[in-house]
Amino acid sequence: MKKNCDFLVIGSGIAGLSYAIKVSEFGKVIILSKSSLNETNTQYAQGGIAAVTEKYDSYEKHIEDTLKAGAGLCNKEVVEIVVKEGRERIKELINWGAEFDKSSSNNFDLAKEGGHSENRIFHHKDNTGFEIQRALIKTVKNNKNIEIYEYHYALELITQHHLNQVITRKSGNVECYGAYALNLKNNHITTFISKITFIATGGIGNVYQTSTNPTIATGDGIAMTYRAKGETENMEFVQFHPTSLFNPGERPSFLITEALRGDGAILKTQQGKTFMKKYDERGSLAPRDIVARAIDNEMKISGSDFVYLDATQIPEKRLTEHFPNILQKCKSLGIDITKNFIPVVPAAHYLCGGIKVNLKAETSIKYLYAAGEATSTGLHGANRLASNSLLEAIVFSHFAFENSTNKLKNISHKEGIPEWNDEGTSLSEEMILITQANKELQQIMSSYVGIVRSNLRLKRAFDRLNIIYTETEDLFKKSVVTKEICELRNSINTAYLIIKMAKDRKESIGLHFTIDYPPKD
Ligand code: FAD
Ligand code: SIN
Repeated sequence: MKKNCDFLVIGSGIAGLSYAIKVSEFGKVIILSKSSLNETNTQYAQGGIAAVTEKYDSYEKHIEDTLKAGAGLCNKEVVEIVVKEGRERIKELINWGAEFDKSSSNNFDLAKEGGHSENRIFHHKDNTGFEIQRALIKTVKNNKNIEIYEYHYALELITQHHLNQVITRKSGNVECYGAYALNLKNNHITTFISKITFIATGGIGNVYQTSTNPTIATGDGIAMTYRAKGETENMEFVQFHPTSLFNPGERPSFLITEALRGDGAILKTQQGKTFMKKYDERGSLAPRDIVARAIDNEMKISGSDFVYLDATQIPEKRLTEHFPNILQKCKSLGIDITKNFIPVVPAAHYLCGGIKVNLKAETSIKYLYAAGEATSTGLHGANRLASNSLLEAIVFSHFAFENSTNKLKNISHKEGIPEWNDEGTSLSEEMILITQANKELQQIMSSYVGIVRSNLRLKRAFDRLNIIYTETEDLFKKSVVTKEICELRNSINTAYLIIKMAKDRKESIGLHFTIDYPPKD
């Protein structure tokens, strides 16, 4: 089956939905979501979205904080532009119905998080992402120009390759004409042909054993773009959130927002001793890479599986009003956070790199735009500042909107695109091969490509991954496509890019820390 549209949006988080709403005034939009519309990283965001709006704050301060966190690898022009866009994009979210908390004086109750010099985080209690996702879904569902395809899994981007033309990574002349997608309810594959394709497929957390990301985060968009010969960069910069709730077996790991530390919660060893000041004068509110490494080090020194976060000094009323979900979640596990310390452990949380895009949100592939966590824009450099990622996603989907709608009139649908070719494949009975390979992959990444790396660990990871890669490609060629095998393949491609770029970076900087190249300062 074939379906035509003007804009094909792959992903239904903040990047995908905000783009879809805007471009819908210019043509027919189709949104693909591999799960239900709301199952996105966006809806799990807790802390909030950073923007400069108050007199006590300034663009300069937010720019400085972002550059400092990024450890010298941010693109300064991008940082300046994104920070200055924040106010307008927040207004848009509010116009679409997102509600952010206000104080008794009716001003926005702006929070502070690690690495921020001022209170500038717009939030909705401790479930900001849920609120944003709710407002965007409501707006999208009321829009007649948008068709929504839930449980539709994008398999591959359609390029000249599918018209039997040879394209190479170097030639730089790849064009995208849409995507093939598998309906997960009936296993039919549809050929979605579009003038513009927009990737908003989010993160990669499930490449690791422990992650705050929902299970949809398997790097699909990055892997599809890579296979289509698009450019990716900065993949070595994987951010581990310092404080996920220690609750073995729970996937995704429940996040304990940094905003709790912004409100005064303090990290302590299992013996109840503070330790962060040893590592950074900002203590528990130092940037994430520093805090995650400090916790990792303390756990290694003491041989423990977790450290504690002590929120008992925060007034109960404040905890109840501002952190109701964390309070409730901990309570369900028998932890009363007004009296007991919270056991926490770092978990894979966010990818700073991804598909390389410019300030128009264009990828290196023609007619293919991208925004959100799947991309590398230059904003985060070697380490993302807290609450800058929702901001980045909404700002770059706006840039994509401005630029792609301008181009639309000069693009026509590509003729002659074939249906998905599954000749010679059969349904694999060997599901165990896929689940086991996925577990091995996660183990390799967590053991060798985690918070602290070395040349030897990375080489070992590379060699082990190669075995799984070869086996999986072999299985993929013979099997009818399923979400499971495609996710595994995408996770392997993503892991390959992380390891390769980590191997190529011969220094410790930001989130990439290797014992073979100790930090300069
Ligand atoms: P997502 O919201 O992840 O959406 C991805 C979409 O792509 C989904 O709809 C998915 O179904 C779809 N998709 C993926 N692959 C395919 C495929 N093959 N076919 C079809 N559809 C596909 N950032 C902040 O700035 N502030 C915060 O407070 C904050 N807190 C966070 C807390 C948690 C627990 C987590 C996990 C992240 C947090 N982040 C936060 C990061 C932020 O939430 C994400 O970076 C951001 O929401 C990503 O948005 P996105 O639109 O790029 O992708
Ligand atoms: C958090 O609430 O701690 C997460 C914020 C973020 O990832 O930006």
